[in-house]
Order: sequence, then structure tokens, then C-alpha cells
Amino acid sequence: MATIAAIIASTHHPFYLRATTATGDDRPPFADEWQAKIEAFRETLTRARPDVLVMVGSDHFHQLWLDNMPQFLIGKAPFYDANYYNEEREFGLPRMKLRGHEDLSAHLLRGGIDAGFDLAFSNELRVDHSITCPIITLRPQADLPIVPVYTNIFAPPMPQPRRFAELGRAIRALVESWPSDQRVAIIGTGHLSLELGGPRQFGPHGPDPEFDRKAVGWIASSDLDAALAEVSLDSLWQPGNATHGFMDFMLMMGVAGDNAKADYADSLDLFHTMEAYFTWYPEGEAGGGEGGAGGAEGWAGGAEGWAGGAEGWAGGAEGWAGGAEGWAGGAEGWAGGAEGWAGGASRKAAP
Ligand SMILES: [Fe+2]
Repeated sequence: MATIAAIIASTHHPFYLRATTATGDDRPPFADEWQAKIEAFRETLTRARPDVLVMVGSDHFHQLWLDNMPQFLIGKAPFYDANYYNEEREFGLPRMKLRGHEDLSAHLLRGGIDAGFDLAFSNELRVDHSITCPIITLRPQADLPIVPVYTNIFAPPMPQPRRFAELGRAIRALVESWPSDQRVAIIGTGHLSLELGGPRQFGPHGPDPEFDRKAVGWIASSDLDAALAEVSLDSLWQPGNATHGFMDFMLMMGVAGDNAKADYADSLDLFHTMEAYFTWYPEGEAGGGEGGAGGAEGWAGGAEGWAGGAEGWAGGAEGWAGGAEGWAGGAEGWAGGAEGWAGGASRKAAP
């Protein structure tokens, strides 16, 4: 049977890449500490030597909208395009392409449905930063197949918090029953107190530091009883209007198991929201063995890398900027291109 090599829960602050790749005057004062914490956190996955990653996150209204909103969905595609235009524009995130793992997807779907979760599935899922941020922070070489698990934490009516915890328990049992010799890491990202588009969005800290303090304590000790006693669908509006993302942390507490103390816990008080990082090793820390960081197929400069590659985010053949189909200046671009919306050869309202 498969081995659960690591269980990891974290926030997914989308500005990490931009903040920590900035130089000179553009580099924010907190970038060095943030980068050091992420690199230490990354080592907790590297040492676990995973073969495949189950990635729990939530679509931020990119692919899933109110015309058809699944509560829990599992991707079963061979490949996943990743990140959306607004994530490139606002956060500087690269376009990515991630390999899927159809066999593990099929196992989780069949077993999950049989366990009482009427899971939706998608063969055409394009994942967003709730999945790609932890790839960038924890596995930047993006070399492992993934199974995306999406939850609805944005669009009421949402499942109850206890249902997230129950799904986490089910996912763990299903991975453990997967007939495979693969080492699986289960990684999930959620929100602590968070406000999006409201008056408390851009404070120096998260909108509710007291909630964050309690939440970090609940997660670090996987104290589901305490969390479930205080957290409800109604109460989660109070710390900030996007705090229902905490239910993804509750799912991961379900994966970790009741009262399973995290082997690694760290946090960082940042603008917008607190960062928090947790790792559990179900087979013991020694099971991870020796890890390696920075493989030969790194995420920068490779054939499909996000920078400069053939399908790269910037400058490539299909790149976002300057490429043949690029957004700006390209042959079909909307600005300045041959068929562009403004200034192009076929522009109808040319001066
Ligand atoms: Fe988010």
C-alpha cells in the first residue's frame, strides 16, 4: 500500500514569489525573513521524498462559478494548466503546466464516493494559486504529478466545517489503502483571518490577530474538537469575509488525525494575512531519509519553465508578453498586435 510521506498545511500568500524575487528598492523589508522561513518549510517536504502530491485547495472563482459550483471536486486529468491572467498580472505568478496522476485520482474518486462523499470530478481543470503557491514554495521544480482536490470555501451555501474534517479523514484512509508503492504527500492550503475587497483588507496584519493566534494553536495540535466547538459557517464571517478558507485547514487537520501534534510549525505575521506552515510525518521524521533540493529540472529556464522557456511565461512562444500569442505586442495581442484591439492593422476606429 502507498505510504503517506508527509502531511502539510499552509497558507498560500500569492505575493511570495514577487516579494522574494524583487531586488534593490523593490524588495520589501520582510522578504529575507519570509524567504528563509519558506526555504526551511520546503525542506520538510524535500526530506519526505514524495512521488506524488495530493493538493487540497479552493478555486478563487477562476474556473468554478455560480453557474455550477461543486462543493468538493477532484481533478482526474493527465495534465493541469495552471494560473490565470489576473494572477500573472497582480501577483507575478507564472503560467505552469502540472502533470496529473490519473490512477490516484480514480482511486480517491471511487473510494470517496463509496465512503459517502458525492464528489464532483473534472477532466479539464485549470488550477489556480491555491494549488500553485504551495508548488512554488514547497516544490519549485514542479516535477511531481498532482491530484487536485478543490473545496468550496467561497460560495454559500458551503458544506459544514465538520464535513471538511470528515473529508480529510477519508482522504487519508483512501491514500493509505491505495495499492501502490508510491510515497504520497498530502498538501493543503487555506486561509487564516482574511478579508478580500473589504475595509480590513490591507492592514499591517491579518484582520483578526486573535483568531489567527487561536487558529495556529488548533492546527499545530490538530485540535479538531476545539476548532469545531468555536467555528461555524456563521462565525467565520467575523474574522474577515474570506475566513471560510480556514475550513481547508480543518480538512488538513482531519488528514493529520485528531490531536496529532505537528512535527513542524511556524508562522509569520505579515500584511494582509498571517502566514502559517505545518508538517506532520505519519511514519516518523526518520522515514523521510535524505532529501535533495534543486534538481536538474528546475523551474527556471527549463524547456517548459516559467521564465524564458519554450512555453514560458515571459518571452516564450506562447508567452504572456511579447510572444506570438502574447497579451501585449504579439501577433494576436489585444494591444498593438496585427489583430489587436487598439492600434492593430484591423482596428476599426483608427484615427
Ligand atoms: Fe486564497
